[in-house]
Amino acid sequence: MDKAKTTTEADLARISEIVAEYSQQRWALIPLAQKIQEEFGYIPPQSISIIARALGLFPSQVQGVISFYEQLYTEPRGRKIVRVCRGTACHVRGGKTILKLVKQHLGLEEGQTTPDLEYTLETVACIGVCALAPNIVVGDRVYGNMNPKKVEQLFKKGGG
Ligand code: FES
Repeated sequence: MDKAKTTTEADLARISEIVAEYSQQRWALIPLAQKIQEEFGYIPPQSISIIARALGLFPSQVQGVISFYEQLYTEPRGRKIVRVCRGTACHVRGGKTILKLVKQHLGLEEGQTTPDLEYTLETVACIGVCALAPNIVVGDRVYGNMNPKKVEQLFKKGGG
């Protein structure tokens, strides 16, 4: 299955509608990009030129700003974001192995998304529940005291 989510005519029309609210307001690039992302889950690449035209910028300028901000994404993300903690406590209690197993189960490297757009895999710094190390967060739920068996169960039943 092709990972790229297709942007329909209706999507482009909606993007133009959002962009029109900010016409010629260069300061609004970030809030505008955030608004598109809120609605689509990411910033479809086709929207870059639409934004550039409306704000009177070059597409490369828009692209540059969007790639600069870690919270803005130009690729579709999974419905569930899996975050494996790479903080010290998790690391010393086997976090590295847990990450390796999660990668194997999902068939992903860090930053990648499954073709069915179910999962995106990321690592995070300490999430503040070191007593439960090693930890994984799926969506907004923390799974503590992870071990190989739990990783298997979590992704077998489509956890989160
Ligand atoms: S190091 Fe993982 S929760 Fe603190």
